[in-house]
Amino acid sequence: MAFPVTRLRRLRRNEQMRSLVRETRLTPQSFVLPLFVCPGEAVRKPVVSMPGVSNLSIDELVKEAQTAQSLGIPAVILFGLPEKKDTSASGAWSDDGIVQRATRALKREVPSLLVIGDVCLCEYMSHGHCGVVQAETREASVQASGAVAARKAVAIEYEIANDATLDILAHTAVSQARAGMDIIAPSDMMDGRVAAIRKALDEAGYQNTPILSYAAKFASAFYGPFREAADSAPQFGDRRSYQMDGANLREALREITTDLEEGADMIMVKPAMPYLDVISEARRRFDVPVAAYQVSGEYAMIQAAAQNNWIDGKKVMMESLISIKRAGADVILTYFAKEAAKLLA
Ligand code: PBG
Repeated sequence: MAFPVTRLRRLRRNEQMRSLVRETRLTPQSFVLPLFVCPGEAVRKPVVSMPGVSNLSIDELVKEAQTAQSLGIPAVILFGLPEKKDTSASGAWSDDGIVQRATRALKREVPSLLVIGDVCLCEYMSHGHCGVVQAETREASVQASGAVAARKAVAIEYEIANDATLDILAHTAVSQARAGMDIIAPSDMMDGRVAAIRKALDEAGYQNTPILSYAAKFASAFYGPFREAADSAPQFGDRRSYQMDGANLREALREITTDLEEGADMIMVKPAMPYLDVISEARRRFDVPVAAYQVSGEYAMIQAAAQNNWIDGKKVMMESLISIKRAGADVILTYFAKEAAKLLA
């Protein structure tokens, strides 16, 4: 039946009507608030490129978590800024690491708030990569022009060693679980990490600790502001040998399949808005909870344009979040969690 019998505008005439037929609804219950925890006391150090986000010492982190909970947000995800970085990422897996101490404080002060641990090494490695760096020195013979003898040139090639990284990730996950972490979320993109973490958790007695794997994590320029917040930019090279190529949807589905086969309980797509098709396809193909991460660059762009009055920040925030939900995300990790929860209340 076509126009004039069909008039789709009939159901859009006023807000009550629009609300009645709304297909997707946001609720704070599906939000996860990312938090950056740093050493010290009474520290709230603003992240310049992420207005509204700060590095928080543990005492401030607890307050922030209480606020989040009072707004109906069920979970936070923790990123740590360690006192020192090294080449074994000791700050990630030591039992008195910043995230472990923060987790114990949160589980003591805000016990019913879920705490998710991002398991990755980039914040703890002096070189800023998500895994162990192996340097290979190659000697190459170079014929210097006009010279009699051939000179030896030395080229250094770097490799992020997959299998050597798995042990460290597994150690990190167990140490976080021991501190009381509710959910383990590996974000490093090494092959086989979910299996390694599952095995280590089970052997340590944490059979009931779920894994939320950053399964389809793309090598994205949208992570820029996060690397300021977490001080985790790679000191050389980039992450394209482990994070995914942004052009690949089928490969993303393979990543999800392998992580589920290895024992992931939930999967994540990241970033969110530039990859809504991946979220949608993941939702259609897999019967597990799908999370999406609206990352730092997505947040920063909206905040920057809003500060210039180029867009209506609140409306764009809500529209961006509903798009992620409509695409199929059950869980949304977003720096807007508190602000959006306030608007939804
Ligand atoms: C750690 C990690 C990153 C993010 C989440 N976990 C940074 C990266 O991969 O470089 C990015 C989150 C964001 O941009 O908000 N590997």
